[in-house]
Amino acid sequence: MKEPTNWLVHDHRKYEAALEECEMAAGAGDWKAAIRLFQEFVDDLKVHMRMEDEVLYPAFVESVDNSAEAVADLSDEHDRIAQLLHDLAHVIKRNDMDHFEDSLTPLYKAMTTHNEHEEQVLLGMGNDSLLMRKDEILARLKTLTTDQGRVWDF
Ligand SMILES: [Fe+2]
Ligand SMILES: [Fe+2]
Repeated sequence: MKEPTNWLVHDHRKYEAALEECEMAAGAGDWKAAIRLFQEFVDDLKVHMRMEDEVLYPAFVESVDNSAEAVADLSDEHDRIAQLLHDLAHVIKRNDMDHFEDSLTPLYKAMTTHNEHEEQVLLGMGNDSLLMRKDEILARLKTLTTDQGRVWDF
């Protein structure tokens, strides 16, 4: 797979690295650092998923023929990731270090699989069509605030 220097997916490696760092802190028993790293990671990822759910995915479906099904699959993967994030948030609330590490693994897996899938779809099916609308899409991304969209209870 080529390295995604592409504007649509450029943050993926950053999220994977952030979660690896969090996993390392948890593995070393540094509970405080693990929670802090997880919280930072979640804040970033929430915004990233929101940009995709609310701007990129709809723009992609509008611009690229026959892409609705592939995008629906990607949305389902977001739901799964959101579920795993909620699980981890509850583990943190319970101060349950052992389960924290256990729950990181499926999250890491779900996220890396999703990122790869998303890169395949977005870069493979319609990068050029979206590129033509890049200015419009970037303007829409800038108007996103964090007080709407997916419901988080943490
Ligand atoms: Fe993404
Ligand atoms: Fe995504």
